[in-house]
Amino acid sequence: MGCATFWLLFGTTVGEYLGIKFVAPDIDHDSWLSFGRLRPVHTNAVFWGWASLAMLGLAYYVIPRVSNVSIASVKSGYRSLVLINASVILGSLFLMAGINNGGGEYREYIWPVMALFGIGVIISLNNFFKTITKRTTKEIYVSNWYIISAMMFLLVIAVIAYWPSWQNGLGETIVQGYYMHQGVGMWFMLFNLGLMYYFLPQQLNKPIYSYSLGILAFWAQILFYTVIGTHHFIFSAIPWWLQTVAIVGSAGMIIPVVAGTTNFLMTFKGSWHKLSGSYTLPFYLIGIIFYFTGSLQGTAEAFRFTNLVWHFTDFTVAHSHLTMYGIICFMLWGFIYTVVPRLTGKEPPQITVGAHFWLALIGLLFYTFPLMYGSTLRGLMWMEGTKSFMESVELMAPYWLWRAIGGSLMWFSHILFAYNFYVMVKRKEK
Ligand code: HEM
Ligand code: HEM
Repeated sequence: MGCATFWLLFGTTVGEYLGIKFVAPDIDHDSWLSFGRLRPVHTNAVFWGWASLAMLGLAYYVIPRVSNVSIASVKSGYRSLVLINASVILGSLFLMAGINNGGGEYREYIWPVMALFGIGVIISLNNFFKTITKRTTKEIYVSNWYIISAMMFLLVIAVIAYWPSWQNGLGETIVQGYYMHQGVGMWFMLFNLGLMYYFLPQQLNKPIYSYSLGILAFWAQILFYTVIGTHHFIFSAIPWWLQTVAIVGSAGMIIPVVAGTTNFLMTFKGSWHKLSGSYTLPFYLIGIIFYFTGSLQGTAEAFRFTNLVWHFTDFTVAHSHLTMYGIICFMLWGFIYTVVPRLTGKEPPQITVGAHFWLALIGLLFYTFPLMYGSTLRGLMWMEGTKSFMESVELMAPYWLWRAIGGSLMWFSHILFAYNFYVMVKRKEK
């Protein structure tokens, strides 16, 4: 989790710099710092360095707990950590040097670098399998279903995305859509839902509202999420029927999202008063709210008539941050603030946790809402067809400024998070 915190700081410092570039495009003239190279450094560092390592670190706590045994091998855990860190370090350096896969988003790391990441995940997956096999509980708790499947899905999508014969033409585009949304949905989302099924009932000190609803959401997510990739390329040369399947799947996603949200909120029922006395539960709640709103926003973006307006605008970027930041980061912070004090016996200062929470939340709203509003105006302006492209760039200028302001608040909140993390793990004074 310490490494994850480092990658959060690194990745979002790069993101912050990118946001500033929208307001001051001539800030530097160095190829290593050019927008095209730094953008994937940002996205890959926060994906594979921050969120993935934090998730795996938390799984090393959750899986043995719910299986009621100790982890099969601590050494393998460290091996996995080293490989994943090596992949993000090398990946970032290569990207800045201009050495990349040339493929689509989030798979810009060249294949040997991504292979290191994949081997790291395989080692942990094997470790988790062995732990679950040794379990002394009868059932496999729902968290483990989610976590193990997320890891299996990640390996499948990574192999598909890097498969040599699918790197050209229309096939590559279909693979790209598949990879992007399986990455966010079947890796980040599925994994975090699994963690939530463990942490939420525990923090509220009561069982999850419905085990069956959890299983329903699990299978519905697998059914619908796996077919929605092509919604990234509506109106493209990809067969029309395949786009329609993706749109129908995107609408079908309402089922697992509503089932999951209901399950979490009903678990909260009767315990709302605990929110004001806890510094972890507000993070959980924000994650759940964004899970509902961010996902439904995605469904809204998938329809043909809405996609026509929003697709080429920053609306997608707003959606990415509402989900990857609003859902994934908030959940991970909540879980880290829950687990680390248990392991070290040291609590973070409530004032800096509160400041982290509010700065991250307000920053995210400043980042995304102006961007959504400006992008809608821009999309409509393009459709009208009477104004020049440059006029639409001028239209966006104030909204990009808001993004840079919001991004700065978010970035500052990460410094506070790193400080809180340090307080939680530092050695006791003698
Ligand atoms: C019901 C669930 C969801 C649906 C139907 C959905 C739908 C969409 C659609 C249609 C797009 C493409 C927009 C375009 O390019 O025109 C998109 C992009 C994106 N979504 Fe979602 N979304 C959902 C949930 C999520 C979640 C949970 C996450 C993250 C945890 C997420 C992360 C992203 C990201 C990062 C992109 C940008 C991809 C890119 O770089 O082009 N989405 N989503
Ligand atoms: C200080 C906080 C952050 C700032 C200032 C920031 C800024 C940015 C900027 C400027 C871009 C490029 C957008 C464009 O090309 O128009 C971007 C892209 C992206 N960022 Fe961030 N970011 C931050 C945090 C994060 C975090 C923590 C995550 C995920 C865990 C994340 C995920 C993404 C994704 C998925 C994209 C691609 C968006 C798309 O193509 O739709 N960002 N970010």
